[in-house]
Amino acid sequence: MEKFIIEGGNKLEGEVEISGSKNASLPIIAASIMADGKTILHNIPDLKDVHTMIKILNYLGAKTKFENNTLEIDPSGIYQFTAPYEFVSTMRGSICLLGPLLAKYKKARFSMPGGCVIGPRPIDLHIKGLKKLGIEIENEEGYIVGKTTKLKGNKIFLGGNFGSSVLATANIICAAVLAEGETIIEFAACEPEIVDLANFLKKMGAKIYGEGSHLIRIEGVKKLNGIEYKIIPDRIESGTYILAGYITKSKIKIEGAITQHLLSLIDKLEEAGLEVYYGEDYVVTIPKEKWKAVEITTLPFPGFPTDLQAQMMSFLTIADGISLITEKVFPERFIHVGELNRLGADITLDGSKAIIKGVNNLKGAKVMASDLRASAALVLAGLIAEGITEISRIYHLDRGYEKFEEKLNNIGAKIKRVKEVS
Ligand code: EPZ
Repeated sequence: MEKFIIEGGNKLEGEVEISGSKNASLPIIAASIMADGKTILHNIPDLKDVHTMIKILNYLGAKTKFENNTLEIDPSGIYQFTAPYEFVSTMRGSICLLGPLLAKYKKARFSMPGGCVIGPRPIDLHIKGLKKLGIEIENEEGYIVGKTTKLKGNKIFLGGNFGSSVLATANIICAAVLAEGETIIEFAACEPEIVDLANFLKKMGAKIYGEGSHLIRIEGVKKLNGIEYKIIPDRIESGTYILAGYITKSKIKIEGAITQHLLSLIDKLEEAGLEVYYGEDYVVTIPKEKWKAVEITTLPFPGFPTDLQAQMMSFLTIADGISLITEKVFPERFIHVGELNRLGADITLDGSKAIIKGVNNLKGAKVMASDLRASAALVLAGLIAEGITEISRIYHLDRGYEKFEEKLNNIGAKIKRVKEVS
């Protein structure tokens, strides 16, 4: 395994280029198996999760070629329809293959994803929606077995106790585009990644209306064509670098973002007393010595994203005053709190609320990465902690950040990736 050794206290300067969106890539790669032909995807980030998805597609029998952020997928050779536990357990997001497999091949045998460090990852909404489209679903020894003779459009309410579900919406859209008749999805997820998936499917020939709102209407079609498509930039990566600029009190430029996807973060940074200079596809962080504590509640898009909660928490550890973060999407997503406190932060938990008392500074220490976004939060904290911070198990980071230390070192950070001596 590998670890980061970070020398804290360095100012950043320069420009960071944003990569393609991991969470747009995964459902679009999955949906490409529905095409009657080859698909070429551009701006696919070179990440572990993308390689895991490619491994699953190859296992099913698809032919793939991935180089220079372009992924070619030829699904014509698919001959099996099961996603084994060893793949699904390493990446919950692979569940987004379920809808495309059932839509195109009318059968699928999929390992239940199980839980992960950010909390249980139920799929009751996925199953509810698929059943509504005429799919029989059984649970066999930890596997979901789905089959149908024909998918029929239906009216589906897809909201759960935590609001909308991104990948359940993706799965139901994919299943509905090849169903017979009309499907109405109420309480659909509005995330930009869902809009990107819908744009991809419409270019393939699907008939989808209302994507980006809570009400999506789909008219089933008979076939979808293989196409060429470019993935949107990653809004969570963008937000992570924006916070890297502010937490280190540096002026950096984040290039190639879609700032329309970042308005909740920009709003909170301005509430904290910071100036955010931005255009349609770039953000410039305007440094300030201090910022005010704020209250954050994570919500489905366009609310404050749960995927930026940990990174925002790092930023608030040295704010002026007491901040409060309420996690409404994944109420247990606080595994980074203990590690930030090891760096000298003063954070206490009360159920799904984190109370962050601002301290003057953080001090370097040995900490451990646990999940993708918590790992990014520890890197942000390491950038400002006095002395050396060592972050172990950084394979979590490699799942969702392309060339993370390279991009940060290019603008003045001092991060070394070394082998962990076990
Ligand atoms: C997607 O996961 C993202 N992953 C997550 O990003 C992100 O945190 C999450 O959406 C929320 O924005 C990908 O897109 C690959 P959900 P998803 O279904 O779709 C509950 C990252 O760091 N729920 O929107 O699995 C669920 O427990 C990852 O990039 C049900 O109750 O999340 C949660 O509380 C982490 N029943 C809430 O809904 C269901 O059937 C939102 O989850 C499904 C979900």
